Amino acid sequence: MELLQLHNVSLWRNSTIILKNINLTVNTGDQWAVLGPNGSGKSFLMNIIATLVFPSDGQVVIAGETLGEVNVWDVRKHIGIVSDYLQTHYPQETMVAEVVASGFFSSMGLYQELSPAMEQKALTILQSLELAHYAQTPFGKLSYGEQKRVLIGRALVYDPDILILDEPCNGLDIKTREEFLQQLTMLIKTGKHIIYVTHHVDEIMPWINRVLLLNNGQCMYAGTKNILLNEGVISKVMGCSVGIFQHNSRIFSYVK
Ligand SMILES: Nc1ncnc2c1ncn2[C@@H]1O[C@H](COP(=O)(O)OP(=O)(O)O)[C@@H](O)[C@H]1O
Ligand SMILES: [Mg+2]
Repeated sequence: MELLQLHNVSLWRNSTIILKNINLTVNTGDQWAVLGPNGSGKSFLMNIIATLVFPSDGQVVIAGETLGEVNVWDVRKHIGIVSDYLQTHYPQETMVAEVVASGFFSSMGLYQELSPAMEQKALTILQSLELAHYAQTPFGKLSYGEQKRVLIGRALVYDPDILILDEPCNGLDIKTREEFLQQLTMLIKTGKHIIYVTHHVDEIMPWINRVLLLNNGQCMYAGTKNILLNEGVISKVMGCSVGIFQHNSRIFSYVK
């Protein structure tokens, strides 16, 4: 089943083309990684998929509904997103339980009344992420990695089909990064489809089975992840001479 389709999506800003003719289909069972260097357009592409930015051209179809033809709030429920922007701009004094509940309103901070069902859902999510003990702690008091997990909770309130993680491991030390990546496996087991955005090949976990390579706003490849073993292609995408090796079903890169 097709959960998401992009047809020839393009985005312009101030007469600059940021994304050019992007096509992407996310089917049930797909776990995507989006790999590209800084400035390649990854975050804009994710914000389009999350219905936060409307494309200049092309079509976005989410759960069979075409963006622009339906109420965006209904479509948005199918997609959750966690980004650095959200983390750095989120009001620090908000209690963790409220941060999660703010996902119901797509807001940064909580400004609306919660129904008992919403409160309960936020707590259930915190429990599943093993963060329930922080429910009444201000967001700003948590570590960087814990904040990231709380924001995943915020993205899960509507049980979306797709969870976008835009460079979630930026700012994490190697141990915390590994723990974080392992915890994502749990989300896959609950049936989530992840779109994992990164500029590090090393973060592409074994459960990822599809890769989109982005360079300068253009899709250079979208398909199975065997492409990651092609040093020539990865070098072209990343803009330098990259070597690749495999270890424990993971793929690692280095500059030659
Ligand atoms: N308002 C704007 N006008 C023109 N270009 C912009 C604007 N905002 C961002 N950009 C450019 O868009 C490109 C893509 O940005 P982004 O999606 O954040 O890249 P990534 O997430 O891959 O690092 C960058 O090269 C950035 O400089
Ligand atoms: Mg980005």
